[in-house]
Amino acid sequence: MLKLMDKLFIRPLQNAAEARLCADFMAASEPWLTLNFSAEQIFQRLSNPQRDVYVAEMENQVVGALVLHLDGVLNGYLQLLAIHPDQRGSGLGAQLLAFAEERIFQQSPNAFLCVSDFNLRAQKFYEHHGYQRIGELSDFLVQGRSEILLRKTKGPLRSFHPVILNH
Ligand SMILES: CC(C)(COP(=O)(O)OP(=O)(O)OC[C@H]1O[C@@H](n2cnc3c(N)ncnc32)[C@H](O)[C@@H]1OP(=O)(O)O)[C@@H](O)C(=O)NCCC(=O)NCCS
Repeated sequence: MLKLMDKLFIRPLQNAAEARLCADFMAASEPWLTLNFSAEQIFQRLSNPQRDVYVAEMENQVVGALVLHLDGVLNGYLQLLAIHPDQRGSGLGAQLLAFAEERIFQQSPNAFLCVSDFNLRAQKFYEHHGYQRIGELSDFLVQGRSEILLRKTKGPLRSFHPVILNH
């Protein structure tokens, strides 16, 4: 799956080197610093074959990463969304989120994600994009911090019709 949005090119993660690159910029920035994630731990998440993993590329540079979990209880779970720290705040996250939602809403009426209680900018970002707070998971990743579960919905499961893809 390839998608060209303005100058941003969104495609599946290709190899371990790309996963390393993304893991390195993430581990060196918030919220992963406060959450005490090492680059290796993030690398493992980006390399999980059970997930749909994408990168965003601009001018031949990988500038963002996206991990979706399209199965299980919270089908349509956006596990990870990250833009390189030097590129944040210029609309790339909104494009990667739009791509994630297009993918999720083909098969589920719900998009779920967690955001850390201290990550106020990301909370504002998701609120702006129509996400609503469902609940708070206290002491979930680290002691003394919460993860806030958010949801954006197209309606009840029983009235949802998944898109049938011919590939
Ligand atoms: C959250 C994130 C994906 C948003 O992507 P982005 O490209 O920075 O966002 P956009 O440019 O599309 O939108 C900007 C909005 O996001 C918010 N934002 C979130 N983090 C920001 C940052 N570090 N710098 C600037 N704006 C940020 C701002 O509130 C801004 O809203 P405004 O336009 O009303 O001022 C990105 O900032 C990021 O990777 N942050 C670190 C990782 C993270 O928090 N991921 C989400 C947790 S699951």
